[in-house]
Amino acid sequence: MTKKKTKRVDTRRVFEGESAAKRQKFFESGIPASLLLLLVYSVLLGFVLTIHQELLSSAAAWNWQVIKHLFDITVMMLMVSVSLGLYIALYEPRIVTNHVRGAILLAMLLVMVGIIRFGVIQGWPAYLMIVPAMVAAVMITIAYNQRLALGIGFYLTLVGVMTFREKPEFFRQGMAVLLTVGFGIGISVLLLKEIRNRLTLIKACTQTGVLVFIMTWVVGIWQDLPKLEIWENSLWAFFGAISVGFVLQGLLPIIERLFQTATSLTLLDYSEATKPLLKRLAVEVPGTFNHSFQIGMMAEAAAEAIGANGLLCRVGSYYHDIGKLTKPRYFVENQAELFNQHKELSPTMSRMIILGHVKDGLELAREYKIPKILHQFIETHHGTTLVEFFYHEATKKGAEAGQTVAETEFRYPGPKPESKEAAIVMLADAVEGATRAMQEPTPSRIENVVHSMAMKRLMDGQFDNCDLTMRELHLIERSLIKSLCGMYHSRIAYPKLEKAKPDSHKEGPEYRAPENVSLPTP
Ligand SMILES: [Fe+2]
Ligand SMILES: [Fe+2]
Repeated sequence: MTKKKTKRVDTRRVFEGESAAKRQKFFESGIPASLLLLLVYSVLLGFVLTIHQELLSSAAAWNWQVIKHLFDITVMMLMVSVSLGLYIALYEPRIVTNHVRGAILLAMLLVMVGIIRFGVIQGWPAYLMIVPAMVAAVMITIAYNQRLALGIGFYLTLVGVMTFREKPEFFRQGMAVLLTVGFGIGISVLLLKEIRNRLTLIKACTQTGVLVFIMTWVVGIWQDLPKLEIWENSLWAFFGAISVGFVLQGLLPIIERLFQTATSLTLLDYSEATKPLLKRLAVEVPGTFNHSFQIGMMAEAAAEAIGANGLLCRVGSYYHDIGKLTKPRYFVENQAELFNQHKELSPTMSRMIILGHVKDGLELAREYKIPKILHQFIETHHGTTLVEFFYHEATKKGAEAGQTVAETEFRYPGPKPESKEAAIVMLADAVEGATRAMQEPTPSRIENVVHSMAMKRLMDGQFDNCDLTMRELHLIERSLIKSLCGMYHSRIAYPKLEKAKPDSHKEGPEYRAPENVSLPTP
């Protein structure tokens, strides 16, 4: 009897422990805070949709009827917003986990609905609603992606049409506006896959304007509207869509800063060799400059092979090793053939210098105001990998002195790559260094090195935080092999490194083993 009771108590404890762990996981997931944000947003949205001139000017106008209406509309908005939240969580989960991003997005939607509502109260033409709705959709395309922009754009159009509620002449037009503005959002978002030059935005919005003009005519004829009204509506929609291009052209730097992103336009700008940091890299550390440009080429091709952002990979590669500017001579690509700075140092000192280039790089990136999106390549290009050569050196010296050396001390601080692009640059960096050290880079040797590097990083958990699939990793490997074979097809041995031990570069391009030291087998 007592045994049974004890068993029951134990089972209950296990269940309680499990549910406590689940509760803690739920609170740590960021979902409660996101729900709270959605609730606040829905209440504010309810206010925006309820408010009108009379309520603003007289406190007496707030009767029971108005409060009931406010409650109804808030509940309705909450339901719609929850479905919006689920959509965001499905396609862009980082907005759910990063509450600042979530708050910025909801605040922007609130401002856009507020503008639409203000226009309705002021009696502006209904079709002008296309301006704020399209601005929001294009902003989301720039900051995130087309799929999210389409979903949120259609949601905004729906909520926007609801602001027409107490204007019967507008409400009659609701369906037509819904169709036309929704169509305009779809077209503008689909036309804006990439902003590669200054005219892209204006061109896409003008094309949208023409199509929206036609759509308004078609819908007007379907609704049997008088010709004059159709002309009026289509011209408002046309000029509204065109104006979005100009508005966004001016807002682009603010959007990039607000959402911590960079358009292809900005990335191309930062890829120019005339940019101060790249200029310094070329003049002060030409070895690193060449290494970065070769990685850029390889990473861009590999990214395009899996449909990732090739341009981001290329520009990210250019900046990944800028930290080497502070102590360039300690890195193999900048060392004179016969002199190795690490000969004079203890493994611990060498470790500090090698690991320090990540931190120094980030500091330089902040100082030179490099876009935030490029910082990930500096931070994560070594992930938490081990500085193998100096770790083995330290273990050897430690063994002689009867001390043990912690492996973690010789690992880069991380973080691990969190995007496919960062993972590609990490791998390109590692294989470029390893193949450069090969005396006879034949295609089969290159293939072996690339595959073993990729597998080593995979098994070391370096790709744990990015959603790279095995198939994508395979495609990246194929692309890197192709690029490296193209680069080395005419070379038998890299002349500068003939004197270095071939194994000394197995773990990347950062440092060279002193000639008098043999490296343990990896
Ligand atoms: Fe590096
Ligand atoms: Fe590098």
